[in-house]
Amino acid sequence: MAATLTINGQTVQASADLSLFDQAEAMCIDVPTSCRKQGKCKECMVDVVEGMDALSPRTEAEQHLKGNFRLSCQTHVIRESGQVRCQTMRRGTMRIESQALGLPGHNRSVELDPAVTRDGDRIFIDGVEVDQRAGPIYGIAMDLGTTTVVLRLIDLENGELIADTSFENPQRFGGSEVMSRIAYDSDHPGKLLMRTLAGYLTHAIEKFPVDPKSIYEMVVVGNSTMRDLFFRQNVHSIGQSPYRSITEIEMAEGKRATTSLVQTGMRSLLPIHPKARVYGAPIISGHVGADAAACMLAVDMAHEERLIAVMDIGTNTELIVGNRHRILAASCPAGPAFEGGAIACGMPALEGAIEEVEIADDESIRLRVIGDGKPEGICGSGLVDILSELLRTGRMNAMGRFADDVRRVTLYRNDVLDEGVFLLENDVNELAQAKGANVAGLQVVFSSYGIDFDDIDVFYLAGGFGRHLNLDASKRIGLVPNLDATKIVQAGNTAIEGATIALLSKSKRQELEDLVKKVEHCRLETHPSFFDFFVEGCQFKPVELIPCAK
Ligand code: FES
Repeated sequence: MAATLTINGQTVQASADLSLFDQAEAMCIDVPTSCRKQGKCKECMVDVVEGMDALSPRTEAEQHLKGNFRLSCQTHVIRESGQVRCQTMRRGTMRIESQALGLPGHNRSVELDPAVTRDGDRIFIDGVEVDQRAGPIYGIAMDLGTTTVVLRLIDLENGELIADTSFENPQRFGGSEVMSRIAYDSDHPGKLLMRTLAGYLTHAIEKFPVDPKSIYEMVVVGNSTMRDLFFRQNVHSIGQSPYRSITEIEMAEGKRATTSLVQTGMRSLLPIHPKARVYGAPIISGHVGADAAACMLAVDMAHEERLIAVMDIGTNTELIVGNRHRILAASCPAGPAFEGGAIACGMPALEGAIEEVEIADDESIRLRVIGDGKPEGICGSGLVDILSELLRTGRMNAMGRFADDVRRVTLYRNDVLDEGVFLLENDVNELAQAKGANVAGLQVVFSSYGIDFDDIDVFYLAGGFGRHLNLDASKRIGLVPNLDATKIVQAGNTAIEGATIALLSKSKRQELEDLVKKVEHCRLETHPSFFDFFVEGCQFKPVELIPCAK
């Protein structure tokens, strides 16, 4: 019997004559490429989940890849039996919007004051003429996450959201978290991480329903490493204590006035107007990056009198606590588990991901899948649900051990060729450690501020993940503090909201530049109690208030 090949959940008999790319194409699976299978663009990557040893040896074109990543155009199944399972980088569904953009809720609106303006057909950036064009002019806001990239296309003349899209960050081949990416970038010359991302961004921008050359500005937010990699900065210093971006070092030395970065569209390797301005929002300090800065803009921290907290749970969880008078921020190295990384059946919150789980009284498991199709994996909100349900029904204890010597919990059983979607005890360990880092961050920031959880007036749970979390489940496993539900606002992706505001308003962009300079960076790694908080936080139980010096 011939070997079987499963790509993105579709299974065929493997053919040694065809590359994985050819076989994916035959299954109508869209594989990113700019070189048509020449081994040059490095975009056709697949993550091999099973059967690495059944594949042809790596070619010269794949020497930059490690782990289970292969270039699909270079790879053939060479075994005559067995099973190979792999996955292309995932993409979200592009949404074409027709509604005016409701800038971040919370009853505020932003006055349109973009840097890109027109006078008749003449297009200006900050008053400097860059082009002549009739028709609409556009900008892009981008949240460049370690795991997921989100883009918004905005009409700069009326602030309307034209379309948005998201995809898995293809830089995963350089590691799933920032420290591995820094090490990869330092070890591999040629800026491969940036070039691969640029290829994916190019495809995403070309799919927008406008001429890419009518895009004149782009605002990029992301953690310090992601942002600096995009701007082809040397990221080595972010990976070494005291963990500073080269821009932060240069600012401390008086060589620059801001940590923000600017370059042209042409230098960014993107198909937007070559003279477009690409603005990397300022970072706060250390790993607390431009995404956290953008969150502050989105929640209007500069004018806030109440005591608020923003928690953006991700591969790096950002925490910001304070108000216009005093702000503390920290970055927690949670790792990718709650974004589906490092989990056997984990995946980002894209179509096919299990996003809700409930164990019914008759012990059956009810699932809700993004897009309502066949489950392909489980994303963060589904993971929180299943942990909470296992705890609630006594199938797992607070230490994350399954009852009755169970090794795996099956959520969805597929046909014989596929094992379906399941959770392993090892996955629970990964999630426990991610949670431990987040809880330790909360404890350190709140105690450094001298407040208890209850002192907070509004707790913004930010990020795409935070938006879809079941709050009761999150509190039960201790991912978020046990606050009254009326204090918690599931605010959605505040980083992309902040990037959008900065795109549409020069004055808000200046406000952001001023705000980041006021923030006190809370360095978790040097806090004497961090490790104790981490160990305690790994347990699946509600987060207790800790005594703190007021
Ligand atoms: S298609 Fe370009 S490297 Fe494979």
